[in-house]
Amino acid sequence: MSEAEQQWLRGTRVVVTAGGTRESVDTVRFLGNRSSGKMGVAIARAARRAGADVTLITAAETTPALDGVTLQRVESAADMLDAVRAAIPGADVLLMAAAVADYRPEHTSPSKLKKRDQPWDLRLVPTADILRTLRDAPERRGVFVVGFAAETDDLLANADRKLREKGLDLIVLNDVSRPDIGMGADDNEVTVIDAAGVVETIARAPKDVVAQRLLQLVAGRIR
Ligand code: CTP
Repeated sequence: MSEAEQQWLRGTRVVVTAGGTRESVDTVRFLGNRSSGKMGVAIARAARRAGADVTLITAAETTPALDGVTLQRVESAADMLDAVRAAIPGADVLLMAAAVADYRPEHTSPSKLKKRDQPWDLRLVPTADILRTLRDAPERRGVFVVGFAAETDDLLANADRKLREKGLDLIVLNDVSRPDIGMGADDNEVTVIDAAGVVETIARAPKDVVAQRLLQLVAGRIR
C-alpha cells in the first residue's frame, strides 16, 4: 500500500485521553490507579500514522512525546475535564481511554500532612464524570465519542449501560480482571459495542494492533 492509501484518517481531528488521573491528598501524596496510559498512546500513534491531526491528553507521567502529536499533560480528573472541553470543539472523534478517578479527597493540604499514631479517615467526594458532563454540551456536538469500559463482572451489561448513560457512539469493553490484557499490560483484547450490540471482538494482540483495528471501525462510521 502506498503512503497516501494508508492515510485513511487524513483531514480528521482526533482527541485521545490516556492514563490514570491523580487526585492530590497533599503536596507529596495522591490517589491513583493502575492505568499505564499505553492504550491511549497506541491509539494516538495509530491515528497519527493514519494521517489524523491528533491531540493526546495524558495523565500518565510515563507518556513519551510522540512525533506529530500535540501532547497535553494533566494531573487530576478536573484538569482532564477542562482539557477535553477545550480540545473537542471542531474535532471529529474523541476516544476516552483514560482511567479517570471517580473520587478525590475532599480537601487537599497545601503542605505535607504529618503522621499521627491513630487511624486516618480520608473523606472522598465524587469527581465530575467527564463523558456525562460533556454529553449534552455544545462543545460535543458533531464529535463521534468512544468510551472505554473497565469491567470485572457482568461485562456486556455494564458496558451497555455506560454506552447509554454517557451518550456514546461506541464503547470498548476491557476485562480488567485478566492480568495479561488491559491495565498496565502490553497486549489488549477488547469487545467493541454500539447501541445495537456487539460490533466486533478484537482478539488479543499488542495494543498498537488493537488500536489500529479500533480506529478502522471508527473511520468506517464517521464517513
Ligand atoms: N470516565 C469519565 N469520567 C469519569 C470516570 C470515567 O469520563 N469521572 C470515562 C472513562 O474515560 C471511560 C468511561 O468513562 O471512557 C468508563 O469508565 P469506567 O472507569 O469503566 O467506568 P465508570 O463510569 O467510572 O464507572 P464504574 O467505576 O462504576 O465502573
